[in-house]
Amino acid sequence: MMPQFPQPTFYIFKCEQSSPPGMPKPSCVNGETQELFGHMAQGLMQRGIMGAVQPIRTSCLGRCQMGPVMLVEPGHFMYVGLTKEKIDKILDEHIIGGNPVNEFLIPEQFWGEPIKLKQ
Ligand code: FES
Repeated sequence: MMPQFPQPTFYIFKCEQSSPPGMPKPSCVNGETQELFGHMAQGLMQRGIMGAVQPIRTSCLGRCQMGPVMLVEPGHFMYVGLTKEKIDKILDEHIIGGNPVNEFLIPEQFWGEPIKLKQ
């Protein structure tokens, strides 16, 4: 039988938390940055790609100082310092066009190689 429910191509995890205690500020949601998740979701609908892309609200992604942040999977693409305009460009160029927007990605020194699991 054919699968009835295809999986999304992308997941976009948008941090929706103010810095938890002990984490460096500023964080991902305060004041006008509250509108960013809605803007992203609306952008997916306007482009007809809701479903192919699943937006997910998350808690802290551990990079509060560079907030607002969102993580695009697959590929561990961590976008930082977001605005509505930057989100629009990410949807058009990365999600639809297939080219990550390098200038909005987290600097490499803050996003090193994945931590290896102990064996
Ligand atoms: S509050 Fe968003 S990364 Fe920590």
